[in-house]
Amino acid sequence: MSSVHAPSRLYTDRDVFEREQDVIFAKSWQFIGLEIDLTKEGDYLADVVAKYPVVVVRDHQGQLRAFHNVCRHRAGPLVADGKGRCNKAFVCRYHAWRYALDGNLTDTGEFPRPEEESGRHLFQVKVAVWRGLVFVNLDPGAAPLADMLAPLDTYFSRYRPMFTRIDHSHSVASNWKVYIENYIDGYHQEGLHPALATNDGDQRHPVTIDGEVAFAGTGRAEDGFWAWVWPNLGFWYHRSVLMIERIRPVSETSTRLDHIYLHQPEDPGVDAVMSVTERNADEDAWVCERVQRNLRAGIFTPSTLSSVDGGVGWFQQRILSLLK
Ligand code: FES
Ligand SMILES: [Fe+2]
Repeated sequence: MSSVHAPSRLYTDRDVFEREQDVIFAKSWQFIGLEIDLTKEGDYLADVVAKYPVVVVRDHQGQLRAFHNVCRHRAGPLVADGKGRCNKAFVCRYHAWRYALDGNLTDTGEFPRPEEESGRHLFQVKVAVWRGLVFVNLDPGAAPLADMLAPLDTYFSRYRPMFTRIDHSHSVASNWKVYIENYIDGYHQEGLHPALATNDGDQRHPVTIDGEVAFAGTGRAEDGFWAWVWPNLGFWYHRSVLMIERIRPVSETSTRLDHIYLHQPEDPGVDAVMSVTERNADEDAWVCERVQRNLRAGIFTPSTLSSVDGGVGWFQQRILSLLK
């Protein structure tokens, strides 16, 4: 049982949302994309992480590097958001200063070069790859990614790499935490996903937490698995298809779900897996939007949580301690 509760305003308040960017998202490993999109020199992925525009690039030596997507001259962008390839250098989109792919400023045209050595390099960001998944961390003192994901090793070690992918996005009109709490609550299958409960013959899914990873299901890797990684990443492996779910906070009342399905080429089962998971996501979004509406209405006061609520109590306590 948990006696500590997150008050409703944590799910509706703009200032809380802004603070979360600094104390949660800028201090955790954030999945940014797949290494298969970064195989050649100059390949890059640019996105916004915890309100900071960042870019990950494959450099001249074949190393992955990450930088703030911010020029040292007057804060112009080096590249547009998304996937792309630059031709051996970043050329700022504003006044065309050039940077080598290791971040060193190489050419300012007519403009005098910055006198300070520290002004001649892009701002660096930590980057790491785990089993083909690329993560960045804005905290220079962050613990190694592999340590955090170690509880997933036994699950992932059995699976061959999958290179065929399908992307899907959903928008959910709820706070990101409402969606996460639904994600790590193994209690709602019967009420919200009756079709799934019938298919599995198993209506409750006990949730186990190991470090910063939560699991639900039988715990036997051969049955497939479902997992969540603090603070906003989900995995579902089912019938040889891996679904990666990046849960992106957009505002205090809006969340985007980016789904990437990885599967073996020519797998005829992928359509069936996708139809189950996309229906499941629609049902989860439906309930989260109604929970958000009820939290905003203001009548709700938190009730006692029990172990059946899965990881919800653990998650709320962690959020509360970080927002203190
Ligand atoms: S802001 Fe990049 S060259 Fe001016
Ligand atoms: Fe669900």
